[in-house]
Amino acid sequence: MDSQIEILSNIIKRRRSIFPVSYTSQEIPVEVIEKILESANYAPTHKMTQPWRFIVYRKEGKTKLGLELARIYKEATAPEKFLQKKYDSIAEKFDQSSCVLAINAQLHPEKLPAWEEVAALACAVQNMSLTAEALNVGAYWSSPDTISELGAFMELKENEQCFGLFYMGYHEEEERTAVRTPMSEKVKWVEE
Ligand SMILES: Cc1cc2nc3c(=O)[nH]c(=O)nc-3n(C[C@H](O)[C@H](O)[C@H](O)COP(=O)(O)O)c2cc1C
Repeated sequence: MDSQIEILSNIIKRRRSIFPVSYTSQEIPVEVIEKILESANYAPTHKMTQPWRFIVYRKEGKTKLGLELARIYKEATAPEKFLQKKYDSIAEKFDQSSCVLAINAQLHPEKLPAWEEVAALACAVQNMSLTAEALNVGAYWSSPDTISELGAFMELKENEQCFGLFYMGYHEEEERTAVRTPMSEKVKWVEE
């Protein structure tokens, strides 16, 4: 039997961003989505603010979010720069995904600098990514500029901000090796 460290290390290394074009049409059951979300709640959090907030978009709700994002792109783009292909591809990504989560944070400016809350949010998203990988669910964090315009559509509260979208779907992609430069180039050891 694999030791805990082998299991953990394999999941960490195996996790890749899997994009909607690779998703199958198989729906992710609600219980599986809940399991992935539950893992987010165990992220570390300074002053226990637990800033991670998620909105699960499925079915008609997902289609509406896709159309809204496409609408924002059209509105924000000068007519001579507008690309119908890009517009169509935004909605298409939502069609290809089984569900899309809004990655939001409830900031507490009176308690903590925003970066600490965004760091906690990213820890929560990584927990979800690893749990998704362990459940053979493909996922990726997307952060288009247009998310800053989604506040009204998502009915975000005061000091709540959207930091991305988490696309999810089952997939049949072959395992891909991570593209990374050696860790030794990113670490300095000081021992004296
Ligand atoms: C905060 C954050 C935002 C990201 N935004 C995007 C994005 O907008 N579009 C995209 O294609 N990938 C996005 N990614 C995924 C990266 O492209 C991906 O993690 C990177 O290529 C490494 O691949 P891997 O996740 O398979 O290891 C984002 C990742 C993070 C952590």
